[in-house]
Amino acid sequence: MDKIAIRGGNVLQGDIKISGAKNAALPLMAAGLLTDKALELINIPDLSDVASMAELLTQLGVVVDKNSQGMRLCTKNLISTTAPYDVVRKMRASVLVLGPLVARAGEAHVSLPGGCAIGIRPIDLHLKGLEALGAKITLEDGYVNASAPQGLKGGDFTFPVVSVTGTENLLMAATLAQGETRLINAAREPEVADLAHCLNAMGAKISGIGTDTLIIEGVKSLEGATHQVIADRIETGTYAMAAALTGGHVRLLHGRLDLIPTVAPLLLQSGVSLEEEENALLIKAPSNRLQGVDMMTEPFPGFATDLQAQWMALMTLSDGASMITETIWENRFMHVPELCRMGANITVHGSSALVRGVKQLKGAPVMATDLRASVSLVLAGLVAEGETLINRVYHLDRGYERVEEKLRGCGADIERVR
Ligand code: EPZ
Repeated sequence: MDKIAIRGGNVLQGDIKISGAKNAALPLMAAGLLTDKALELINIPDLSDVASMAELLTQLGVVVDKNSQGMRLCTKNLISTTAPYDVVRKMRASVLVLGPLVARAGEAHVSLPGGCAIGIRPIDLHLKGLEALGAKITLEDGYVNASAPQGLKGGDFTFPVVSVTGTENLLMAATLAQGETRLINAAREPEVADLAHCLNAMGAKISGIGTDTLIIEGVKSLEGATHQVIADRIETGTYAMAAALTGGHVRLLHGRLDLIPTVAPLLLQSGVSLEEEENALLIKAPSNRLQGVDMMTEPFPGFATDLQAQWMALMTLSDGASMITETIWENRFMHVPELCRMGANITVHGSSALVRGVKQLKGAPVMATDLRASVSLVLAGLVAEGETLINRVYHLDRGYERVEEKLRGCGADIERVR
């Protein structure tokens, strides 16, 4: 199994190109199921989660062609309406085919995703929302069976908690429902807005994009479109923190401040400078030590849970302390014991972690447990004294395109060992 070896201490300097967002690409690919015309997605990142989604879509009858620009999806005919356990188990975002399948074919059979490393991750809201659109839902042998043989009907659904893929599933389903749907307390994540823009380019009638109330006027059918996937804000935040941690100076090409509205002010507070240039973000570490700054994760526009582990890595070397509170996932502190093995001083109390800054981290063999936990160990390794060997890096390949190459390009001593 691949490992990543990092010899810490190099200052990051140079340019890093931010890729298309994984969490935008996955729902956009699922949207290809909604039409029998071609959907061209530009700037699709080359990631194992994208490959898993392509594999699932192929099983459903989608013809998926990768090209130098991105990916072309065409679903002339559906050949299956089942997302099997072995695919959903590997990638929970497979549940994104549920809404489009019911909308297009009048039925879907999707394996329940079950638990995963960061928490229980239920999909009850996806199901309740589809019921509000007239689908009949039953659970059998670990599968969700959804049916709407006469088609879905527009309706109102209020999310009791904000759900990103829940909003995306219902948004896609509602585009082909009869009449108007209102999704209230919808997720405002930029990836949801990106999906809505693409659906509108395909002929959908969605308004309220970017707000917590999405209004969808159903249409009979959708057309093909060409759509450019937005830049990955989590990758942007990750590399900004990598630059800050190593005392570096990095230009993030395609990085956008408006995609990190809460992360940017906290970075500024910790002493990092961020400057927006044309189609890039310039990140400069402070000349002195970073300052400890408290942080709490929240749905967008709040601080993304997908950047919590990286923020924690940053705070391990701060002057002072930082209280980090995770409000989205109940089990997302698995990087804590690994960071502590590298010399960090962190204590967890329920959903909060108190990070007391230390002067230096030390390299160690560590274990990656999920995608964002893994990258927080990469960040710590970049600045630790000596060698850090990260095991189970397949987690990283799910969401970070060519991570070693991008960091090496800025001077990091990092390599993949087999
Ligand atoms: C999306 O997951 C992201 N995945 C996650 O990215 C991200 O951590 C998460 O949103 C939160 O921002 C994709 O976009 C593919 P949710 P999702 O439904 O949609 C509860 C990464 O590292 N909930 O917004 O699955 C749930 O338990 C990842 O790239 C219900 O109770 O998350 C959680 O507490 C991992 N019932 C909260 O809502 C439901 O039916 C938010 O979950 C659905 C969710």
